Amino acid sequence: MPAILVVDDELSMREFLKILLDKEGYEVSTASEASSAIDLIKCQNFDLVISDIKMPGMGGLSLLGKIKEINSSLPVIMITAFASPDNAVIAMKRGAFDYITKPFKVDEIIKIVKSAISSASTTTTDEITSETESFEGIIGNSQEMLKIYNLISRIAPTPASILIYGDSGTGKELVAQAIHNLSKVRDKPFVPITCSAIPESLLESELFGHIKGAFTGAISNKMGLFELADGGSVFLDEIGELTPLIQTKLLRVLQERELKRVGGTDTIKVNVRIIAATNKDLEEEIIAGRFREDLFYRLAVVPLRVPPLRERKGDVPLLVKHFLKKFSEKMDKDVQEISSYAMKVLLEYDYPGNVRELENIIERGIALESSKIILPESLTLSTYKKEGKTIEKSEAFIAVESEDELHNQGLDKVMAKLEKEMIEHALVKTNNSKIRAAELLKISFRSLRYKVQKYDIK
Ligand SMILES: Nc1ncnc2c1ncn2[C@@H]1O[C@H](COP(=O)(O)OP(=O)(O)OP(=O)(O)O)[C@@H](O)[C@H]1O
Ligand SMILES: [Mg+2]
Repeated sequence: MPAILVVDDELSMREFLKILLDKEGYEVSTASEASSAIDLIKCQNFDLVISDIKMPGMGGLSLLGKIKEINSSLPVIMITAFASPDNAVIAMKRGAFDYITKPFKVDEIIKIVKSAISSASTTTTDEITSETESFEGIIGNSQEMLKIYNLISRIAPTPASILIYGDSGTGKELVAQAIHNLSKVRDKPFVPITCSAIPESLLESELFGHIKGAFTGAISNKMGLFELADGGSVFLDEIGELTPLIQTKLLRVLQERELKRVGGTDTIKVNVRIIAATNKDLEEEIIAGRFREDLFYRLAVVPLRVPPLRERKGDVPLLVKHFLKKFSEKMDKDVQEISSYAMKVLLEYDYPGNVRELENIIERGIALESSKIILPESLTLSTYKKEGKTIEKSEAFIAVESEDELHNQGLDKVMAKLEKEMIEHALVKTNNSKIRAAELLKISFRSLRYKVQKYDIK
């Protein structure tokens, strides 16, 4: 008999849960405060803890932290008041299995309890160490990626909705697939849909289905993706593009776990894991009134940021190796290496198109390369880069006008002058756009801004 500990300061809630879970065949203990719960956990084996968040003395979120210190694999379900999505986010970040909002439905709580208890006995993800170089097909071993692998393996087995955000080409879809592959519904469908690719009227019926005659062209009943994915995961890509109407409908599905087909009157129960992705700043969209805040909180129970490649350049060599292998096999060419100068060029580049761009660079490099090693000439970086190169060369000659000057002023001064002139030139060329100038010079926007101040460039 699985053992459950219920922690709540309210007697009525403890009794309600005890009676309910007793009836389901669990052995239920109760505690009225966090400190006595900790004592019980230290001396007794539990399979699950259900805890209220708001309690006098130590609150539920601190208790959650303590429990995870004592036994990190013990699942904990938090009970939150309806109006506190922030708490839910904190709870999931601290490793809660899931949260239930008050007032809750009996069958909802039983379902979550069951899946929490079965997860504890089935979760087996490979351990992630600093040696880890790839995870579920995602390549990289920078600190940033290791953190992501850890987060994925902790949240994947829970039913929590996840919002993946990050720039285009950073690997959001790979992350979504990894979450599904490590979830308890991995044997069920993973249904992706790119929200921006479909006009509103069609998207509605794609997502929720329609009944015969609902609109011209609806010649028969049709299931929507939510029904098709039932029991599995729906991956809503580019969620920032959803129109207000679809946002409202989606919110309903997330809240009620049921939907109506377009033109239909019957309610249909759906049970799907939602994974969403966006390359927009949704918080900005909320402020601008283009995205519903309540929907955001429902989707982003666990937010997961995939950083741009320029913030994790340490991943470049591993990615290069991976893509070299992939494309030389695919094109049946024997290009397995890259010259160290070509690698240096790749490490200095900023990748506005992120991993997708690096992947394309290597693919093209292999196609263009006739030797066994990729040389810098075979790398076609985006045009900004090329312009940058020509500027570098010509400007270098302008700055050091004579050898005498170099001797008189010393290297530092000459280099500073060169730097200043290059920046001025880049700003003129880009009509004073610091963003474009930074790209041209292959330095970050911040460092450009710093140098503009330092050299007092007008
Ligand atoms: N860490 C990685 N390891 C291996 N391949 C990667 C990695 N990140 C991205 N890729 C590859 O780069 C390409 C883009 O990745 P993906 O489609 O997941 O990006 P995205 O963040 O969803 O982009 P967008 O916002 O444009 O949809 C894919 O071909 C993917 O396989
Ligand atoms: Mg994508």
